[in-house]
Amino acid sequence: MNILITGAGRGLGLDLVAVALEHGHDVIAGVRDPARGQAALSALAAAYGDNLTVAALDVTDEAGIAALAASLKEQGRTLGVIINNAAVLNATDTPLEELDIAEMQLALDINLYGPMRVVKHFLPLLTEQKASIINISSEAGSITNAYPGSYPYTISKTALNMFSQKLHVTLKERGIHVLSVHPGWMPTDMGGSKAPTSPRTSAERILGLIEQRTAPEGHFRFVDYTGKDMEI
Ligand SMILES: NC(=O)c1ccc[n+]([C@@H]2O[C@H](COP(=O)([O-])OP(=O)(O)OC[C@H]3O[C@@H](n4cnc5c(N)ncnc54)[C@H](OP(=O)(O)O)[C@@H]3O)[C@@H](O)[C@H]2O)c1
Repeated sequence: MNILITGAGRGLGLDLVAVALEHGHDVIAGVRDPARGQAALSALAAAYGDNLTVAALDVTDEAGIAALAASLKEQGRTLGVIINNAAVLNATDTPLEELDIAEMQLALDINLYGPMRVVKHFLPLLTEQKASIINISSEAGSITNAYPGSYPYTISKTALNMFSQKLHVTLKERGIHVLSVHPGWMPTDMGGSKAPTSPRTSAERILGLIEQRTAPEGHFRFVDYTGKDMEI
């Protein structure tokens, strides 16, 4: 399958690229700024050659996303999977009384509108058999388990889960599998060093969900990286 992954230069995104290549898939690794040192991706490119395409993909840049989709289409490329992984965690400790609404706009722009822009422009390419859209979400987006603070990130992930559900009801007739996936608390730049779940393990399990087309048992399209239903 051809797999498009956003935020592919570090963290979970980089492990998703590595695991997908190891599983024999072709990967289009979207990075915000290809000019910035992408040493790990360069090493994967050297090992996997044409199976890996590194592409400029800033999820806030709709014109850039549209141009990338058009260029891939022109090359006759198709997709089997879109993984919306890129995200930002900001203003976590800021109380509402002090919250600059620009922080909300930033989180929604990257974490919600980003996946929406990507799906908007890449959906026409998602024509391979057993296609999937995976939105990397978070337990932080659960309404049931809401906790104080972190307004921008948590609300953006709750909304992302709604986007997944909307895509599911819209695309199920076309056989496109849609999931919001909580990847676990991982020791990435975002998760910090104390986090217990290796991003490599999470990436392997997420690839398993894609390849086995695991469907949630519950009503909502929100699971963790092991496939267990999450609370909305
Ligand atoms: N880490 C955790 O414990 C945890 C827990 C639950 C959910 N998650 C979710 O898992 C996913 C991956 O998180 P992570 O821990 O790997 O985060 P991370 O280490 O902070 O990496 C974030 C990635 O998103 C990219 N990104 C940010 N803004 C972007 C933009 N405008 N356009 C394109 N790419 C952009 C970054 O690119 P640059 O290098 O260019 O900045 C980077 O590749 C996220 O969706 C996150 O919400 C993480």
